[in-house]
Amino acid sequence: MESQTVKWKHYFLYLAFIYAILYFLHTNLLLNNRPIRIKKWPHLPLRFRHDGTFKILQVADMHFGSGLLSRCRDVLPSHFHYCSDLNTTRFLKTMIQLEKPDFVAFTGDNIFGPSTTDAAESLLSAFGPVMESGIPWAAVLGNHDQESSMTREELMSFISLMDYSLSQTNPPSKDINNVKRGMFLDIDGFGNYNLSVYGAPGSHLANSSVLNLFFLDSGDRETVQGVRTYGWIKESQLNWLRSASRELQVQNEEVKYVIKTQPVDASAALAFFHIPIPEVRQLYYQKFVGRFGEGVACSSVNSGVLKTLVSIKDVKAVFIGHDHTNDFCGNLEGIWFCYGGGFGYHGYGRIGLARRARVILAELRKGDKEWMGVERIKTWKRLDDENLSKIDEQVLWELSPSR
Ligand SMILES: *[C@@H]1O[C@H](CO)[C@@H](O)[C@H](O)[C@H]1NC(C)=O
Ligand SMILES: *[C@@H]1O[C@H](CO)[C@@H](O)[C@H](O)[C@H]1NC(C)=O
Ligand SMILES: *[C@@H]1O[C@H](CO)[C@@H](O)[C@H](O)[C@H]1NC(C)=O
Ligand SMILES: *[C@@H]1O[C@H](CO)[C@@H](O)[C@H](O)[C@H]1NC(C)=O
Repeated sequence: MESQTVKWKHYFLYLAFIYAILYFLHTNLLLNNRPIRIKKWPHLPLRFRHDGTFKILQVADMHFGSGLLSRCRDVLPSHFHYCSDLNTTRFLKTMIQLEKPDFVAFTGDNIFGPSTTDAAESLLSAFGPVMESGIPWAAVLGNHDQESSMTREELMSFISLMDYSLSQTNPPSKDINNVKRGMFLDIDGFGNYNLSVYGAPGSHLANSSVLNLFFLDSGDRETVQGVRTYGWIKESQLNWLRSASRELQVQNEEVKYVIKTQPVDASAALAFFHIPIPEVRQLYYQKFVGRFGEGVACSSVNSGVLKTLVSIKDVKAVFIGHDHTNDFCGNLEGIWFCYGGGFGYHGYGRIGLARRARVILAELRKGDKEWMGVERIKTWKRLDDENLSKIDEQVLWELSPSR
């Protein structure tokens, strides 16, 4: 009888203990009485929709400061008193609701360092609408993001931990002896990484990447022989780009082998970075679609980005920012270079020129029975005017019909 009571006591204590643990785990993990936030992840992998499309919203140069306190630049005098970073927030919410993108790409100068004393807070506000939307997103840095309380490395690491963010500080190192940079590849800059977009659900390409997105850090400022200039993409980054592109194209070849009976289209890729390459200047003398509103502000160093892109073959279009009143697309040696156009109200612009965003739509080829690889890449822009006008729609790339 006695031992039975002891047994029951133990049993009860045991249950209470289990319950306490479950309660603790279920409610909150507490650290210094503050709940630990666990990053929210989007549904992965990224993939095309059932209708064979994948839509990206490019947001260039939000220039977010400290919210209500950061006034708008270059708006009509009658608008000045009622305009702040909150207008940028509203425009981002509107664009997400209107275009319903599958992915949002932020191409740098997301925050404007000099206008905030707390980079983390500014980032949380700037990316607030996309985090609330639950849409996967990624960002690279511009030349102004680090001009506040965080270094470029800290910024990228913070951005990569934000809800629904797929940003990475740098690609993981495959060489286990390479521990110099911790678990990252030894590569210049912060924010060099790739994301794969898989084929349509239910198709043979459902588990294969058909569209690769490359993100590169174009740096901030540098001094070359005593002269200040903008940053550029370094050889170590181009080396990584070449090997990642090659690896992904080999994977694609393997899929081709598996499917055998059906032709598989070569993989397509897009690239995103902040500072234009020097060759973009030449577009002034060629045909371009959109607005060439100011000189191209780029580095005095030409590190051979265009040459590399031409040689790897998969990148069809590059999306850049930096020059807010340029929003054109032009073609250099078969590769499109498109500006996003200034998005943020605290960034410079031109009075009377609406803030804008770019939309990129990739469409799959319809095979006999199912969706195949990428067939077409289109783009257009949306203005933050009363009609949210859609302008400059164009096809950037199309699979050659000869196949
Ligand atoms: C900024 O937002 C306010 C409040 O919604 C609005 O009244 C104002 O017109 C906006 N300004 C611009 C330039 O869009
Ligand atoms: C893709 O992966 C899923 C889950 O692993 C599997 O059920 C499906 O058959 C795969 N599809 C193809 C086309 O390989
Ligand atoms: C990036 O590319 C590599 C090939 O270099 C691929 O294995 C990897 O899955 C890609 N990363 C993502 C996140 O898609
Ligand atoms: C918006 O659309 C209306 C009706 O089509 C037109 O009258 C107006 O000029 C447009 N506004 C802008 C800024 O394009």
